[in-house]
Amino acid sequence: SAAEKGGYDYFMLKEIAEQPKAVADTLLGRIDAEGSLTLDEVRIPAAVLREATKVVIVACGTAFHAGLIAKYAIEHWTRIPCEVELASEFRYRDPILDHRTLVVAISQSGETMDTLMALRHAREQGARVLAICNTNGSTIPRESDAVLYTHAGPEVAVASTKAFLTQLVACYLVALYLGQVRGTKWGDEIRAVIRDLARIAEDVERVLETMEPVRALARSLAGHDTVLFLGRHVGYPVALEGALKLKELAYMHAEGFAAGELKHGPIALIEEDLPVVVVVPSPRGRSVLHGKVVSNIQEIRARGARTIVIAEEGDEAVVPYADHLIRIPVTPTLLQPLVSTVPLQVFACELATARGNEVDQPRNLAKSVTVE
Ligand code: AGP
Repeated sequence: SAAEKGGYDYFMLKEIAEQPKAVADTLLGRIDAEGSLTLDEVRIPAAVLREATKVVIVACGTAFHAGLIAKYAIEHWTRIPCEVELASEFRYRDPILDHRTLVVAISQSGETMDTLMALRHAREQGARVLAICNTNGSTIPRESDAVLYTHAGPEVAVASTKAFLTQLVACYLVALYLGQVRGTKWGDEIRAVIRDLARIAEDVERVLETMEPVRALARSLAGHDTVLFLGRHVGYPVALEGALKLKELAYMHAEGFAAGELKHGPIALIEEDLPVVVVVPSPRGRSVLHGKVVSNIQEIRARGARTIVIAEEGDEAVVPYADHLIRIPVTPTLLQPLVSTVPLQVFACELATARGNEVDQPRNLAKSVTVE
């Protein structure tokens, strides 16, 4: 009913708008007064976390994209090797697991059969499993050694939005916590990032306040049949997520690429007026990637692409090559997906509406996939 949707036309719009609160709620009570993490609820002894030799993340769809982003954070802050695998592929390749492997299973519903079968397999091999889940008491946390709940509240729309942002927050918490427990040379950076995380909900709110031009752009593209998405580093999984949202909601051909791969094939797809969304890394610090992505934008634009550029406030280098420019707040590199994903959700939702599609219940899809 309209009341359930809180005055919004669709649950998806309501859930997009709830993201600042969902992010804040997921952090609540997990950062203490000294700025350290307290994840006592994670019932895996610190000794086990200290001795882990490998982290393996299993998940599906949007949750898998959160896992891909987690890998950058975990490896950077903890130096523990981290693999991310589609849950549906995991057990069929006889993965290498033992009691020193920490498996992280990410699932909004906690009922996704592929993810459940992957974690059962991992536990049979002696691995410890930590679930990141949004649904209290669901099967995946019940069958795991420990759980870190995301506090997004119920997510009704089939297309995942607020659950994704809170999965990211939970992944950062796990990465930072592993760093904290094990001790790392990034101690100062970890403390700074915890401070930035504590403020990030306001940045998400600011992004939401500037979405009208994104909606207008989406409507103007309703007649297109393909949109490409490019990103690098943590922007690459964001590109994959932007493409997945567009597939499920707008039923458009949408593809995400690592921008560095363009020259190895995908650039052949570029033609006159093809919309290409590019997620640009921060220009600050030692980011050589920024310059490389700006070159990619130049290259595709020279070949006729219509460039839709998502870039940090103050990034002037992109301005000459952006047909459409979407600004996001300045954030630490690894946290950028928390703000860069939001315009892509709004974009997909508006395109679905403009194309007359059912936003909350896309064709052929179910909210939780309880079959393998
Ligand atoms: C996301 O928009 C999708 N509907 C889908 O990919 C989803 O993320 C996937 O099925 C995993 O679901 P889960 O998080 O409930 O396990």
